[in-house]
Amino acid sequence: MSASPSFPSGHDRAAAVTRLRAAGCVFAEDEARLLISAAQTPAGLAAMVDRRAAGQPLEHVLGWAEFCGLRIAVDPGVFIPRRRTEFLVRRAAALARRAAALARRAAGAARQDPAGQDPTLPRAVVVVDLCCGSGAVGAALAASLGRAELHAADIDPAAVRCARRNVAAAGGRVYQGDLYGPLPARLRGRVDLLAANVPYVPSGDVGLLPAEARAHEPRVALDGGADGLDVLRRVAAGAPLWLAPGGHLLVETSERQAPRAAEAFGRAGLIPRVAHSSRLNSTVVIGTRPPGPGG
Ligand SMILES: C[S@@+](CC[C@H](N)C(=O)[O-])C[C@H]1O[C@@H](n2cnc3c(N)ncnc32)[C@H](O)[C@@H]1O
Repeated sequence: MSASPSFPSGHDRAAAVTRLRAAGCVFAEDEARLLISAAQTPAGLAAMVDRRAAGQPLEHVLGWAEFCGLRIAVDPGVFIPRRRTEFLVRRAAALARRAAALARRAAGAARQDPAGQDPTLPRAVVVVDLCCGSGAVGAALAASLGRAELHAADIDPAAVRCARRNVAAAGGRVYQGDLYGPLPARLRGRVDLLAANVPYVPSGDVGLLPAEARAHEPRVALDGGADGLDVLRRVAAGAPLWLAPGGHLLVETSERQAPRAAEAFGRAGLIPRVAHSSRLNSTVVIGTRPPGPGG
């Protein structure tokens, strides 16, 4: 449908702001601006404002969320990528770059690059985004690295459909199933970066989440079991089979869960460490598969 020539009028704008404000949207003006930019007609805008006023998350109404500077498609019923998860993406990209610099130095390139600062990657980094939801983490990692072989998987068919749109742009593949189950066997022992933003809210705390999350994101995306670490423990236990020697698993947790998550990584044979960003209020547990002999 083509945009109507007089749309948006001052009246459209004012009506949207008034309606959103009355519904309790704190950032009514900003939200109205975004909704107006997404709508084609006054009727389309009114329908979007109605959905937002009824409590649907802004990202589901718009159909996208901003993540790591990318516009990620997010369908209704799919977990909305959180700003704090950008920390996990940054840590993962930094690890890949450091590994590339070390490999280059080992290969004798240090003479041209004595500081080991060359950011280019000598080969495509093999990235798996497990529990991918919309695929935001994998798509952002691929965009940041430039050269990546990207694979993503999720158990929820709605997430998989959505992720296919985001991951296709990076030339990646998306599979549906339980954790590692649907991944191609040829990835075993080859994964450089395994990112898994698993559900980690303790079951008893799901009811305390903001209404937007409780009502509009699926429970399977939020509920991590009694202490929130059920899925994380399964991901950690399976990781050594899939990681390349020296490869890394990165998982987001709450600050309180991090020590127990690190223990689970250690039990699985990974070398654990915890990174925290106070700016993004984000905690990431990183587990590294020990390099093999000569690695
Ligand atoms: C917290 S959301 C994270 C989504 C995405 N990685 C992000 O950061 O935006 C967790 C995702 O894990 C998926 N999930 C939960 N249990 C799973 C399982 N056993 N196997 C695969 N995916 C699972 C959910 O469907 C959901 O999409």
